[in-house]
Amino acid sequence: MINKAPFNAMITAVGHYVPDRVIDNKYYEEYLDTSDEWIKSRTGITERRKLDADTPTSFMAIKAIENLIKNRGIGIDEIDLIIVGTVTPDMIFPSTACILQRELKAVNAWGFDLLAACSGFIFSLATAVQFVHSGSHKKVIVVGADKMSSISNMEDRNTCILFGDGAGAVLLEPTEDKEYGILDSILRVDGEGEKYLHMLGGGSLNPPSLETIEKKMHYVYQDGKTVFKEAVKSMADVSYEIMTKNNITSDQVSYLVPHQANMRIITACAERMGISMDKVMLNIHKYGNTTSGTIPICISEYWQEGKVKKGDYLILSSFGAGYTWGSILVKWAF
Ligand code: COA
Repeated sequence: MINKAPFNAMITAVGHYVPDRVIDNKYYEEYLDTSDEWIKSRTGITERRKLDADTPTSFMAIKAIENLIKNRGIGIDEIDLIIVGTVTPDMIFPSTACILQRELKAVNAWGFDLLAACSGFIFSLATAVQFVHSGSHKKVIVVGADKMSSISNMEDRNTCILFGDGAGAVLLEPTEDKEYGILDSILRVDGEGEKYLHMLGGGSLNPPSLETIEKKMHYVYQDGKTVFKEAVKSMADVSYEIMTKNNITSDQVSYLVPHQANMRIITACAERMGISMDKVMLNIHKYGNTTSGTIPICISEYWQEGKVKKGDYLILSSFGAGYTWGSILVKWAF
């Protein structure tokens, strides 16, 4: 990404929300052939959060944005654009962005949803940056929000233990100080990944029917082993690539902020970059894989704990269905 604009896009506020209800690993032991020990050792997950069955993704996104707006101390009417990374929109249409605009009374904002699965936040952030660089937008909210419990088959031990519900949001604004903000992004897709990670039902290929319900096509399917191998390689490669491309050494990186799908993928990524685990933002143990939510929730929590400082280099990295993957280099601005 070569930014020829007279300013950079910087993150100026963060916010997040996770539901109160905690589902620990023992919950699954009660009815599935699994164990707390297996889940912890193979994934790094101890517990995850679950939203009420009749509450939609937008509820969490609204809470995350309200948290962000409070942290920034601005009015919602100042927001120009809302981009929502999600695979679990409230409904196919209207977009969740429209629902957020209405519910938050963001009277001056337009918005849209962006679908890139676990890379939803990274892809949305990179998209939002372009609107700021163009000079046309001054305050853009990017929210990653997913209610994975709405598309997880609770009888499938291969997938249901992995996912959780949550939302995180960041605010982007222009800065004339080109040393700070979103400095670079590398984004990739490989459509060959479809067969290993997908949800086949509900779209125009397989519209909802009794048959799609019976075949459980409205749930996440994952060939875990294949996806695991691809994720390790792709996320590690792209994280290393953005670091070297920008002449940043591992010593200079304050935090790797990886998508939280599996602790072993995260560890491999950190190793490849030569980064110690104390410089890796983690929330997988308590929230599992919240898809678009993992990265912004991490950043928001670490910031709220006072662990992120002006001048810190952050490398955000993700891998997900598509396949989609990528990394973003940030120099923290506040
Ligand atoms: N409890 C107990 N056993 C389980 C289990 C569970 N919850 N889930 C799967 N198993 C079993 C499998 O059925 C398999 O049994 P088998 O050998 O008799 O068939 C065995 O454990 C080993 O499965 P395997 O797939 O080799 O385990 P793994 O080490 O790959 O771990 C995942 C499984 C899903 C945790 C891992 O593959 C993974 O994290 N994949 C990638 C996830 C990801 O990055 N997604 C990207 C974006 S969402």
